[in-house]
Amino acid sequence: MATLDQIDKTRLPKHIAIIMDGNGRWAKQRGLERSAGHREGLEALRRIMRAIQEVGVKYVTVYSFSTENWNRPKEEVDALMNLIAWGLKSEEQNMIEMGARLEFIGDISRMPEEALRVTNEVIASTSQGQNYTMIVAFNYGSRDEITRSVRAIAEKVAKGEMKPEDITEEDISRNLDTRNYPDPDLLIRTGGEERISNYLLWQMAYAEMYFTPIFWPDFTKADIYDAIVEFQNRERRFGKTSAQIQEEEKEKLL
Ligand code: FPP
Repeated sequence: MATLDQIDKTRLPKHIAIIMDGNGRWAKQRGLERSAGHREGLEALRRIMRAIQEVGVKYVTVYSFSTENWNRPKEEVDALMNLIAWGLKSEEQNMIEMGARLEFIGDISRMPEEALRVTNEVIASTSQGQNYTMIVAFNYGSRDEITRSVRAIAEKVAKGEMKPEDITEEDISRNLDTRNYPDPDLLIRTGGEERISNYLLWQMAYAEMYFTPIFWPDFTKADIYDAIVEFQNRERRFGKTSAQIQEEEKEKLL
């Protein structure tokens, strides 16, 4: 189990993307409703946001609701929407004190009216936060986002404002919902599945992938420190072999 002082503050991930998976299974194991798992998942998110702030990571994106999640039973969808909105509202004061800015990617317009109003309040009241940005992916799907980006570029081409041969990777990035953030360099997925599930596909081209079997409600500060330490160990190789790195480390100690 890693501790905060094992993290090298000079080589932090710039942006951590998290898939908070395993809420349902956590609840099932305890004979509880799935929504109890999501509620406990909110507690885990609170913990992790504090850890992120202590460590000093500047951007975190959490997957709260995918475009595919609409297929879940209506009661679960409704409960989740309210939990997201009111969960954020209950953290509003803390976020302001921590200098956190809340932003969303995906299409939040499908959120029920009251939940959307509350969410927009928190987005507005935290908009001056300078310490870090928490991005909530809601009604988000990466292919949908890339399709929207390509469509926006195609419209410019159709109007004659741009030529097809001038389209660059930057143009695609600039038209994504994430245009204002650096690309995630670390993905953490809890809950044992080892998939990306239509999450930030374009943006994670070079991200380190960290998968853990721990269910999201059980994920602790020490667990996120572990993920960051592992990220730093992987990064440290810079394309060299382990033997080369060990040799260099030995030389440093002499
Ligand atoms: C995946 O677990 C989790 C979700 C779909 C929802 C995550 C939402 C929260 C943690 C609520 C708080 C969020 C914010 C942004 C305030 P699952 O239900 O797919 O778990 P399973 O794979 O075990 O069924």
